[in-house]
Amino acid sequence: MGKSFSGKAKITALGCFTPSSVLTNQDLEKMVDTSDQWIVDRTGIRQRHIAPPEMATSDMAVEAAKVALAARGIPATDLHAIIVCTVTPDMFFPSTACLVQDRLGARGAFGFDLIAACSGFVYGLTTAAHLVASGEPKKVLVVGADTMSRILNYEDRATCILFGDGAGAFLVETAADGEEGFLDYLNEVDGSGGDALKMPAGGSRMPPSHATIDQKLHYVHQEGNQVFKYAVSKMADTSKALLERNGLTVDDIALLVPHQANQRIIHAVAERLGISLDKVVINIHEYGNTTAATIPLATRDAVRQGRLKKGDLVLFAAVGAGYTVGANLWRWGF
Ligand code: UT7
Repeated sequence: MGKSFSGKAKITALGCFTPSSVLTNQDLEKMVDTSDQWIVDRTGIRQRHIAPPEMATSDMAVEAAKVALAARGIPATDLHAIIVCTVTPDMFFPSTACLVQDRLGARGAFGFDLIAACSGFVYGLTTAAHLVASGEPKKVLVVGADTMSRILNYEDRATCILFGDGAGAFLVETAADGEEGFLDYLNEVDGSGGDALKMPAGGSRMPPSHATIDQKLHYVHQEGNQVFKYAVSKMADTSKALLERNGLTVDDIALLVPHQANQRIIHAVAERLGISLDKVVINIHEYGNTTAATIPLATRDAVRQGRLKKGDLVLFAAVGAGYTVGANLWRWGF
């Protein structure tokens, strides 16, 4: 659910990090029964970045956060809150946000992890905007970071080809009076879709055991087709509804930044919305699906390419495991 909302929070900086090591489709051809052509045709993905063994989610989150803070020119001690959106935390607890807070030296910031899978970053933006709009905290760092390679079964061709590792961060701050930033959101959960995409074991329902490991239950399990159809219809419907209730059409927005799960999903959403592809960011070919990090990574690339400028209307949209659904409308802040 969402509500009409205006102003008070703006995005002032972003930063991203991806590990240097790359896993190509050709590499995957040697690991599972697949082909570069199948992967490119069915997903648009050509490569994904993979974290080295010693690197965990908090390490990538810290690097992305440092880039965002440097871009804004403020020390970590200025942060009031840190939200880390992830389904691959370093460990159950302490939260990744605590690890990031410590490593950044962000004394004075509280923080927490947010689990909404591929919708994580959109939920994180919604949460940060409302925190900032309340008056305190005034500076919130939202990080989307996932080390998906740690929960993939590299013997399952239907899932291991899809995901990659990475992190991205936005700084959300109080907007000046009359200054536009966060405009509106529509977030939803449909828990009836929970079985379609999940990591079954490792939690309190099915704690780790020899049996859960033997059955490969600590990996991503997905009903790809089901998720595909849900993602297309929900991302399109939610985006449309959000625009409509703000009296806007796709002609009014400068850019749609969709979650990058599959290029065919993005194309189908664009078609349903009637938005031309030159207003849609697609960088899945380079990173694959980095779960909570796709939206900041795609936004970073759009900014670099000069496709997103201060004052532009931008729509972020995602669907993820849960199911979770989210769309956010912002006026770009820098
Ligand atoms: O981030 C949010 C969550 N995730 C998503 O949004 C992902 C949503 N789903 C998808 O992107 C697509 O469903 C997939 C890319 C996962 C699969 O594409 P698809 O077009 O839905 O293929 P499919 O699952 O219907 O499988 C078609 C065929 C099957 O063979 P048979 O049964 O027709 O003989 C699969 O076994 O393709 C086969 N297949 C592969 N072949 C070569 C599945 N994975 C591969 C592979 N290489 N990697």
